[in-house]
Formats: sequence, structure tokens, C-alpha cells
Amino acid sequence: MNKTGIFYWPKNGNVETCATKIYEQFDKSEIELHSIDEADQVDLGSYKMIIVGGSTVGADVWEKASDNNLWNDFISKFEGKILKDKPVAIFGLGDQILYPDHFVNGMMIIKKEFDKAGARLVGRWPTVGYDFTGSESIENEMFVGLVLDEDQQDELTDERVKSWVSQLRKEAGI
Ligand SMILES: Cc1cc2nc3c(=O)[nH]c(=O)nc-3n(C[C@H](O)[C@H](O)[C@H](O)COP(=O)(O)O)c2cc1C
Repeated sequence: MNKTGIFYWPKNGNVETCATKIYEQFDKSEIELHSIDEADQVDLGSYKMIIVGGSTVGADVWEKASDNNLWNDFISKFEGKILKDKPVAIFGLGDQILYPDHFVNGMMIIKKEFDKAGARLVGRWPTVGYDFTGSESIENEMFVGLVLDEDQQDELTDERVKSWVSQLRKEAGI
């Protein structure tokens, strides 16, 4: 299959809005949009590229959330070799003013799972243009994926999404 699959959670909030904006940057024939609870219905290994997005809702909340099982279920699908060397990209929602010390921390949790699966991370993103004091989602001075802040910088989302998708195309060769 020559398609990119976008997988996101939760539904009905900023993550879904942004997942849809990313989806709209692709031709309909080359993209699928799914919430992670639909991942059972598809073959993750068949995508040319996978994009995964979520929001940070606090470390404690992430660990205890009832939704946690959904992420675990999704992540368990990476086991084996289905993602080996596959281009994967992450986008994360956060709020840099209310949570400046833990800005978009949740992206790193997803990134580590991709690492374990042997995937090839694409779409690292500069930290320039955001105002925060700490984030676990930075490696070599870059965010591990696209950071979107619909609470404080929603006016920048469209431009960031557009630029990131064109970066993904180059890095993943699609
Ligand atoms: C209870 C709660 C905890 C949050 N904790 C963080 C946080 O630790 N770091 C961060 O960057 N944003 C944090 N946020 C902000 C959300 O990530 C942000 O509002 C996001 O856009 C929510 O997207 P969603 O509505 O799709 O879940 C938190 C929001 C809530 C409601």
C-alpha cells in the first residue's frame, strides 16, 4: 500500500482538529485518518509512513488515565518487525503557558515506543518560536515531532502543519 496512516487520540478535541489539518495536506488517495481505537481494522505494517498524534495531559494523568489502555493496545501493535525502518512521525498538543515545565512531555513516550520497534523517526521540529522552560520531548535541541499549541498559538497551526508535512515528504521520500 502506498498510503500514509494518521493515528490520533483523543477524539473531539484539539488533537482531532490538528490530525484533520494534517490529513488535509495530503491527496485523499494517499492518506487515511484513524483514531487509535480503529487500529484493529487496519494493517499498520502496510503503510508507507505512519503519523501518530496525542496531547499531553500531565504525567500522572497519562499513567492513570482510563484511556491509557487504548494507547497500550495501540503500542502493542508495534511489536514484531512491522515498523522496522518504517518512517514514523509524531505530533503533540500542549499548552506552553499553563504547563511551561512539562511542555508536550507525552511525545517522548510515543517516541520511545517507536524506537523500540525499530522505526525510523522523521519530522523532528525546532524549539524556536515556543516559550517554555522544560520539555522531555527534546533530543539534540529539537522536538521529537511537530508541536502544536491550540491554546496559546492556534494562529500558527496551519503554517506549522503545512511546513511539517512538506518536511515529512522529503524525509520519508513520499
Ligand atoms: C488536565 C490537563 C493536564 C495537562 N497537562 C499538560 C502538560 O503537562 N503539558 C502540556 O504541554 N500541556 C498540558 N495540557 C494541555 C493540553 O495538552 C492541551 O490543552 C491540548 O490541546 C489538549 O488537546 P485535546 O483536547 O485533544 O486532549 C493539559 C491539559 C489538561 C486538561
